Amino acid sequence: MPIVTVTRRLHFNAAHRVHNPALSDEENLRLFGKCNNPNWHGHNYMLDVSVTGPVSDRTGYVIDLGVLKRIVQEQVIEQADHRNFNIDVAFMHDVIPTSENIVVQCWRVLQPAIAPATLSRLVLWETPNNYVEYSGE
Ligand code: NI
Repeated sequence: MPIVTVTRRLHFNAAHRVHNPALSDEENLRLFGKCNNPNWHGHNYMLDVSVTGPVSDRTGYVIDLGVLKRIVQEQVIEQADHRNFNIDVAFMHDVIPTSENIVVQCWRVLQPAIAPATLSRLVLWETPNNYVEYSGE
């Protein structure tokens, strides 16, 4: 049976400040530069959500992309869009909001919501030039 990966891309806008409270202000500025700005800044994020599985004989789908969109919208977009990752987003509580940490936390909320389908990869774009990817390791 053919195994296919399908991907849905969703957009959201969110603010953050990359700051480790365990480090001094000087060290934070040196490590995180502009992303350490005390008064926040925003990014236009894109999240690519991939599901891998067999193609259903009945539907010809791996997963209904409308269903996948609705899950990602509920679990991630409605939590994060036009919000501040440091303050507003429950799944980022106590986590430094780098792209690396955001993509891992997105995995933790999406994986159980998408099951029994198989979430196979998340790609989070912070800018058109920078992205992180996570496959649940
Ligand atoms: Ni930033």
